[in-house]
Amino acid sequence: MRAMLKPLIGHRGPEFKELFNKLLGKTKKVFETNGDMFILTSSGTGATEAALQNITDDGDKIIVNVNGFFSERLGEAIKAYGGKPVVLGSEWGKAPRVEDFEKIVKANPDAKALAVVYNETSTGVTVRALERLGEMCADRDMLLIVDAISILGGDKLPVDDWNVDICVTASQKCLMTPPGLAFISVSDKAWMKIQSKKVNRSYYLDLLMYQKYIQDGYTPFTPAVSLLYALNEACDMILEEGLPARYERHKICAEAVYNGMEAMGLGLYADKESRSHTVAAVNSPMGMDEGKVRELIRTKYGIDFGGSLGKAKGKMFRVGIMGNVGSADIMTTVSAIGSATSELGFKAKIDEGLEAARETLSRLPER
Ligand SMILES: Cc1ncc(COP(=O)(O)O)c(C=O)c1O
Repeated sequence: MRAMLKPLIGHRGPEFKELFNKLLGKTKKVFETNGDMFILTSSGTGATEAALQNITDDGDKIIVNVNGFFSERLGEAIKAYGGKPVVLGSEWGKAPRVEDFEKIVKANPDAKALAVVYNETSTGVTVRALERLGEMCADRDMLLIVDAISILGGDKLPVDDWNVDICVTASQKCLMTPPGLAFISVSDKAWMKIQSKKVNRSYYLDLLMYQKYIQDGYTPFTPAVSLLYALNEACDMILEEGLPARYERHKICAEAVYNGMEAMGLGLYADKESRSHTVAAVNSPMGMDEGKVRELIRTKYGIDFGGSLGKAKGKMFRVGIMGNVGSADIMTTVSAIGSATSELGFKAKIDEGLEAARETLSRLPER
């Protein structure tokens, strides 16, 4: 926030060029890519739109996993840009198995891409098979497009090593920057598809135009300069901590929430093996209205949780574990959930919950 107070600079001048060039380098480190990187002035969906619009011709098949609200949206977006989504559905709270992906990819060899929401934020589910999906696409004429909006920077995603052709994320989640910036990485394989696309329907999000401008160090349209100051600071914090340490911290904090909830007697929405390290979905106890739980926690304990979306409406609430989180946040959160659910009539085992969270958090290194 303090970084954003700096006076603005002209976005066609040398200072901007220097800043932007530095930022491209830093974000590439966070994405672990040597491919091309673009920073867009939009929310995350802008980057998803750029990915899809720049590779899709009418009727192109794109395979997409649908297991929650945001992956449903991704399927809708594919349709909106003229593509034909081939849906691999799975139950909410679960991720499709590798074998399911293999089957659908084999059955649709003409699909142009496989689009995956790596972390389904609405259900707290991570597709742990992503690396394997990258290998699968690398062996074929198929792109791997990844929506990493709620995970990049908080869990492992080495874009080049995992053969991700297009990876999109947004500033406001694990990158700890206010909303308004979106990021998209593009591999050589993806560029070949972009260049061979027959119709270009995008102007604001035309990646070929971005590529032309970036060669001189600029963006084609006015960038959100203050947000770039914030991003610069956030990237420094991320890289100072180091990616492996950062991922481990998110993992331990998430496990502390999960263990705390279970010890307290609350249920978890996601399958154990695909539970996210950046967002924990907690079932509302005894059919209690999750909106009431969240409202009480917000007003009495000053913590804001995400509500339930789509099919999960009313059943659970979501705890964000993104960015600069640590023991203090997690212990306060676990305690607030125990207190609020007790106040609403659930016999939460608060002591057990806090002890389980504390014990898990003791694995965190000193900071
Ligand atoms: C997985 C996922 N995809 C897409 C989006 C949409 O991103 P935005 O609201 O930044 O456009 C979100 C937002 O939470 C998300 O979590």
